[in-house]
Amino acid sequence: MPAISASAPGKIILFGEHAVVYGQPAIAIPVTQVAARAVVMARPTATSGEVLIDAPDIQTISLLQDLPAEHPLARILRILQAHLGLPAYPAFHLRVTSTIPIAGGMGSGAAVAVAILRAVSAFLNCPLDDATVNKLAFESEKSFHGTPSGVDNTVITYAQPIYFRRGQPFEKLATAAPHTFVIADSGQPGSTAEMVGAVRQRWKTDPRQMETCFEHIGEIVQQARSALESSQTRGLGSLMNKNHSFLQQIGVSTPFLDALVKAALQAGALGAKLSGAGGGGNIIALVETSNAEQVAARLSIAGAVRTIVTTLKPHSL
Ligand code: PMV
Repeated sequence: MPAISASAPGKIILFGEHAVVYGQPAIAIPVTQVAARAVVMARPTATSGEVLIDAPDIQTISLLQDLPAEHPLARILRILQAHLGLPAYPAFHLRVTSTIPIAGGMGSGAAVAVAILRAVSAFLNCPLDDATVNKLAFESEKSFHGTPSGVDNTVITYAQPIYFRRGQPFEKLATAAPHTFVIADSGQPGSTAEMVGAVRQRWKTDPRQMETCFEHIGEIVQQARSALESSQTRGLGSLMNKNHSFLQQIGVSTPFLDALVKAALQAGALGAKLSGAGGGGNIIALVETSNAEQVAARLSIAGAVRTIVTTLKPHSL
C-alpha cells in the first residue's frame, strides 16, 4: 500500500450562522490558502496490527487503541471503520496536521475529518466519493455538537461557495465578481457546542423574539445571494453589518468581537461581522483589495492574533 495524503480547506460562513440551525439558509465559502488547511498522510508501517496517530498540533502521538473513545481523531476513525465494515484496521501510520485555528470558527474539526476520511479510505483502497465523505463528516460533527446544521462539512467537502439549507441538497453559488475578505482571529476560543446550546436556551425562553431574528437573518441571506450573483460589493458590506447586529441580538457576539468589527469598519472595510459560532473565534471584513493590508494591520493593532486575506474568485456554475 503506497502512502496517501489528502487535504481539506478551512471555511468561513459569510451569512446565516445560527439561524441555519433553525431552518434558515446560510452562505459559506472555502478558505483555500495554505494558512488554513488540514493535511493528512496515511502510510504503511512495519508494526503489525497497530494504528499510530501523530497529530503534533494537538499534542497527540498515540496508538489508536490507547486513545479515549471520545478523542476527536478516534471518533472519526471509528465512524470510517463502521462505514467500511472493517473488523479492525490494518497497521498504518497517520499524520494529521492543520493550520486552521482550533475553535476559531473556521471549520478545523470538519476539515480534519474530511482529510482523514479521504486519506484513510484511499489508503485502504476504498476511496469514498464526495457525498459519502460529506455524510460521514456530518456524523463526526454530530458527535461533537449534537445539532449541527451540516454547513461546515458541506462547504469543506465540496470546497466551493455554497448556499445551504439544513436537510436540503445544497446549491453551488455562482459569484459574479471577486470579493476580498480579511479574516481576523480573536485568539479567544469559541465553543460551537456551547454557543449553539446557549442560543437554544434563549430560543426556549423567548421563541418569538428569536424566531424573528432568525427570519431577518434569512432575508439577509437571500439578499446577499442576489448581491453575490450580481457583483454588488457595497450592498454586500451593509448586509454583513446587518447580519452582525442580529448576531449581537441573539447573544453570540462579545465585546472583543464587536471591537474588531468596529476597527475593521473604521479602517475602511465595506462591512464586517463575526463568522461561525461566536463567543470568540473570528470576524470577517469585506474590503477593497487595495485596502486589505491596511484593514488587516488595523485589526492586529485592535488585538487580533492572526489575520488572513482571502479572495473569493468569480465562480460560474
Ligand atoms: O463551527 P463554527 O464555529 O463555524 O459554527 C458553525 C455554525 C453554526 O451555525 C453556529 C452551527 C451550525 O451547525 O451551523
